[in-house]
Amino acid sequence: MKEKIEEFIKSLEKDNKLFKYLCNKSDKEFVPEKDTIFYAGPYWDYNEKIAIIKAILDGDWLSSGNYVRQFENEFSKMFNFKYSSMVNSGSSANLITINALKLYYNWKDGDEIILSPSGFPTTLTPIIQNNLKPIFVDISWNDLNFNVKKVEQVITDKTKAVFISPVLGNPMNMNYLAYISKNHKIPIILDNCDSLGSKWDGKYLSDYCIVSSCSFYPSHHITTGEGGMISTNIKEIYKIAKSLSSWGRACVCVGTEGLLKNGACGKRFSKWLDGYNGIIDHKYVFSNIGYNLKPLDLQGAVGLEQLKKFDKILALRKSNNLILSQIFSKIEGVRTLKELPLADTSWFGTGIICDTQKLKEELMQYLEDNRIQTRNYFAGNLLMHPAFKDFGDIKNYPIANDVIRKVFFIGCSPVITKRMISYIKDIVYKFKEL
Ligand SMILES: Cc1ncc(COP(=O)(O)O)c(C=O)c1O
Repeated sequence: MKEKIEEFIKSLEKDNKLFKYLCNKSDKEFVPEKDTIFYAGPYWDYNEKIAIIKAILDGDWLSSGNYVRQFENEFSKMFNFKYSSMVNSGSSANLITINALKLYYNWKDGDEIILSPSGFPTTLTPIIQNNLKPIFVDISWNDLNFNVKKVEQVITDKTKAVFISPVLGNPMNMNYLAYISKNHKIPIILDNCDSLGSKWDGKYLSDYCIVSSCSFYPSHHITTGEGGMISTNIKEIYKIAKSLSSWGRACVCVGTEGLLKNGACGKRFSKWLDGYNGIIDHKYVFSNIGYNLKPLDLQGAVGLEQLKKFDKILALRKSNNLILSQIFSKIEGVRTLKELPLADTSWFGTGIICDTQKLKEELMQYLEDNRIQTRNYFAGNLLMHPAFKDFGDIKNYPIANDVIRKVFFIGCSPVITKRMISYIKDIVYKFKEL
């Protein structure tokens, strides 16, 4: 069967030029003034699409299996983790991360987690969903992350962790945060959805953190359509995370491990239940109150191909950010987001900081009118939104409030090609006749 599939794939490659053409949409197709420049999108080609077809044709089970397992292993190797567990989204990864840490450390309801008021909602929501209390620290104009110098002011005996989430990929001062973490014995958790590959002082941001989550939605550095990852070096946390995303089951076998007669633990059929004096299958023993957040195996297959592109993606994001920053800095009253001295940023987007709300609104409207997509600095201040208004008083976070007025970003993803950047330059230089 395997040979037949290989034969079919080869025939697609050889004989079907149309298929290959459709898989590899290229720069040449961008038509200025007609096409929209999306702020991001999947950077994929023939290889990912073939991987999907192959995974469907040779997959026995469709749900998480060997491709997911391989992707978890390769992802761990590439980003310095011992263990990774794939789920169906970055939001699910955050939900499982917080739930797993609550169980691992035995946090109590009402314990406190420190985070930024500016960012994506599903960094915050898992804290609330797990009956923990979010404690916000206003952001800093230097890097638009929460102000590390103010973290110690909010630490109490209920503080259990700091949850960082660099929105545009650019790190905060991790040395200072690591010092606080050590001094107060509180772990750092990383929502790495927007900062995969970012480093501080030569180390990945995740190297400073107990658990990292990641998103593979198409606007992120690598994509599997939808998808997410929870990564850690602590086996027990990994096992809890795997269990929570698989109905809460005790057995965490994945892929071919599930086909081993006695599972990876070697004792699949044993006396697992205290209340039952008999042999029972470990796969039907439930150790946690879980969810089903598993991905499809074909998402793992796509992830494996995306990892091969990661170095190129990183380089393109960096160079696009540099060029776009230079272009936008020419506008009077505009500066772009810069990284701190020890940071090496895997940029999610190019941050545009305007002197006034009027300038921000005019510039965003102008770019949108010219089919160049823009994005707010995500939620601005999450506490301004109906869902979160009861979790804090916006008056206490003046910079987060100002961010919604003065900051937006445009994409620097590799789907933004040289031709598009040249068009963006022409348009920006015409803004108020620069
Ligand atoms: C910082 C951050 N966390 C979490 C998420 C949620 O990821 P997903 O869309 O995969 O659920 C996003 C989404 O863009 C994000 O930017």
